[in-house]
Amino acid sequence: MTEEPGADQPDDLMERVVNLCKRRGFIFPSAEIYGGFRSTYDYGPLGSLLLRNVKDAWWRSMVQERDDVVGLDAAILSTPRIWEASGHLTNFTDPLVDCRNCHERWRADKIEGSCPNCGSTDLTEPRAFNLMFKTFAGPVEEDATVAYLRPETAQGMFVNFVNVLQTTRKKPPFGIAQVGKSFRNEITPQNFVFRTREFEQMELEYFVPPPDAPRWFEYWLDERFSWYRDFGIPEDKLRLRHHDADELSHYSAATADVEFLFPWGWDELEGIANRTDFDLKAHSAASGEKLEYFDQTSGERYVPYVIEPAAGATRTMMAFLLAAYDEDEVGGEKRTVLHLDPRLSPYQVAVLPLSKNDALVPLSRQVLGQLQPICMCDFDVTQSIGRRYRRQDEVGTPFCVTVDFESLEDGAVTVRERDTTEQVRVPIDTLAGEIRERLGR
Ligand code: GAP
Repeated sequence: MTEEPGADQPDDLMERVVNLCKRRGFIFPSAEIYGGFRSTYDYGPLGSLLLRNVKDAWWRSMVQERDDVVGLDAAILSTPRIWEASGHLTNFTDPLVDCRNCHERWRADKIEGSCPNCGSTDLTEPRAFNLMFKTFAGPVEEDATVAYLRPETAQGMFVNFVNVLQTTRKKPPFGIAQVGKSFRNEITPQNFVFRTREFEQMELEYFVPPPDAPRWFEYWLDERFSWYRDFGIPEDKLRLRHHDADELSHYSAATADVEFLFPWGWDELEGIANRTDFDLKAHSAASGEKLEYFDQTSGERYVPYVIEPAAGATRTMMAFLLAAYDEDEVGGEKRTVLHLDPRLSPYQVAVLPLSKNDALVPLSRQVLGQLQPICMCDFDVTQSIGRRYRRQDEVGTPFCVTVDFESLEDGAVTVRERDTTEQVRVPIDTLAGEIRERLGR
């Protein structure tokens, strides 16, 4: 019998990862000294590095390593006219029900007829609750100053379509990529940073000639699935799920999700949609501006279709942590280790002087100075070397560089690898090259 995917993981994996995040400075509950604030989180010294690496890894593969995608960083605050045209003002809703017994509120589609808090079945009829955060731009709170925080980064790409075409001379197929914060007034934020009201997205809008849309849809399914696998999520914890017709968003002709096996079951990491020409046509009609492509060689004029791979950066970071978490034994001692891909690890190298000795620390600082231009380094002099190795394993640092008394004689250091715990002696003169090579930089 083959083992169920995830059977190798502890039952309380989620709790262990949440504890590690707090204990080691990945993720803190926001406003903790005031008792927290409604499922918001702050990314600590290590979490901000990991999150940045996830976003950089996405940007590198989606923008830097391609010649058909350009970047954008659009405003978070915007006019209701955008959200009216995109359909978000009327359609971006979840069905909300109240429990008449305990007065908790729930998403009707996420509960099965009874209140998860008190078990009562005395629920109100579902009503449409719009998920957009509404605010006012300027000092006067009136209808004319209403603004919204974007619930997705995508619309910034559509409303800048012509600006980008004119300034980059790109032609379909080409894409616009963006990474940034989005906001949704989720009725029930849950599962740590899986569903929060403030989160980060990594989205690509890829504009193609309409007849080519199905082919490009398949292309992006493959690309995106491979990206998660290449960064270390095991294939048995990843799957693609095609949406049924009744699940499709109002703009979509086809959607598939890349799903990850979370501790509570399969759930979405990223949605890949064929958004057709819905958005460009909607903004064109509402603004009166032509949002189309004119091919000067063929004389053809058309509104491109859009293939959209839309991922969550914060949610993806959590999946990488869950997939990387492991407990094993080294030299008869239990250790916790994050088998993160070195490109994602908060630190790539930790420089560890064997002791606080007056001669070792200056040499160690010299070594640190050589490595800092290459990658993110930690420098740790406290406690025994064994404890320090464990601490670095626990946060996923792939290499520890130890400077010992022999280093003063032979000008070499010990490089220890996280997963195998193998140690080799490397001359300080060639250390930077060795680390570069091991990191593929
Ligand atoms: N532009 C299309 C779009 O926004 P989506 O499926 O609603 O599509 C894309 O969002 C991705 O953003 C999701 O797959 C998920 O990873 C992330 N995401 C959405 N809502 C989120 C939330 N409340 N908290 C964290 N991540 C979220």
